[in-house]
Amino acid sequence: VNNFIFSNPTRIIFGKGSIADIPKYLPKGARILLTYGRNSIKQNGVYDLVYKALTNFTMFEFGGIEPNPSYETCIKAVDIIRKEEVDFLLAVGGGSVLDATKFIALALFYTASNDPWDFMAGRKPGPTVAVPIGSVMTLPATGSEMNSGLVISRESTQEKLSYSSYAVYPKFSILDPEVSYSLPPHQVTNGIVDTFVHVIEQYITYPTYAPLQDRQAEALLATIIEEAPKVLADRKNYDSRATLMWCATQALNGVISRGVPQDWATHGIGVEITALYGLDHASTLAIVLCGLWVNQFENKKAKLSQYGRRIWNMHGDDDTVAKDAIAKTEAFFESIGVPTRFSGYGLNGIDVAEKISMRFAERGLKGLGEHQSVGIEQIRAILADRA
Ligand code: NZQ
Ligand code: ZN
Repeated sequence: VNNFIFSNPTRIIFGKGSIADIPKYLPKGARILLTYGRNSIKQNGVYDLVYKALTNFTMFEFGGIEPNPSYETCIKAVDIIRKEEVDFLLAVGGGSVLDATKFIALALFYTASNDPWDFMAGRKPGPTVAVPIGSVMTLPATGSEMNSGLVISRESTQEKLSYSSYAVYPKFSILDPEVSYSLPPHQVTNGIVDTFVHVIEQYITYPTYAPLQDRQAEALLATIIEEAPKVLADRKNYDSRATLMWCATQALNGVISRGVPQDWATHGIGVEITALYGLDHASTLAIVLCGLWVNQFENKKAKLSQYGRRIWNMHGDDDTVAKDAIAKTEAFFESIGVPTRFSGYGLNGIDVAEKISMRFAERGLKGLGEHQSVGIEQIRAILADRA
């Protein structure tokens, strides 16, 4: 078990009707900017519930945040915050709304240059303080409700970059599973795949002595596999919705990654595919993951076979179990309706492989993954294999 630091300051308020409790967690007299996406919170009634709860607060709004939120959109909110002297941001929506809000909260305090994109791109240090944030998470997937991460796209340069700052952990996040009933099926399955792959990125690396972290990751994977078909069969299965919502939060709140190696190559490649082709985040993960495993088979065989035995109840030698575990994972994604090949999204995988590997080459990539063994040639091969 490697040395580690663990601290997670986000308070989670979980369960039916919890939106009504928001005022308990807000500073008295807060001037609040409500941030949200396009229409979903107005259609499913969440917008009204939030306003009903916040009648005694001074409210401002910033709507229209798009999936894969853009820098160009986010930056417009900074002026509103300054003008209206907003002192608290309440993000109501999915991971995109939360991530955008985290960026806005940091951008307000950024002074190192005229362009806050400089800290996203690692050219300048980011601010160490941010406007405090609370959230109502409406889409279980990203874990953004209880982590320090944000992912922002810049349309003008077709970049999609991640950033992390302790300053943007939400002060609180409201998780009401009933709010997720209105998700269209493909967003439910996006959430399932994203959660699953978050766990995998922190688990399928190489063996270290970390039996607790392994079992925690395996508990999440087994639970996701068991509950996924239940929410797809019955949209209003509260307990399965609640279980998947809590899985999504736990998959990326820092617990399971403490003291163990991490991969993140699937995400690293995936965000580039979204940046160039606009595919949903989870779709890119479903395509890349098993291709990466085939390409990095020898490096990952030990953990893949552990996964095959413990999660899929497989028996046999390591080689056979590891291969079968890859096939089973692909079949699981397909079984919930998420295509795992570029052809399933109408894209030519060979072209994508060329363009994406070129992008990494331009940036001088050394290597992704727990051994930095996924370089430009490997990326081209992984993607070409997923045509
Ligand atoms: O825009 P609205 O109208 O709100 O609709 C959204 C959007 O169209 C809709 N939606 C959300 N909640 C709903 C709902 N529709 C009906 N009922 C509800 N309850 O769903 C659509 C997708 O929303 P979005 O927020 O984009 O999805 P998701 O939560 O999957 O977030 C994806 C973004 O998060 C980033 C991804 O890269 C991507 O940009 N990630 C953030 C991470 C983090 N902060 O730690 C980690 C992840 O790996 C990921 O990279
Ligand atoms: Zn993800």
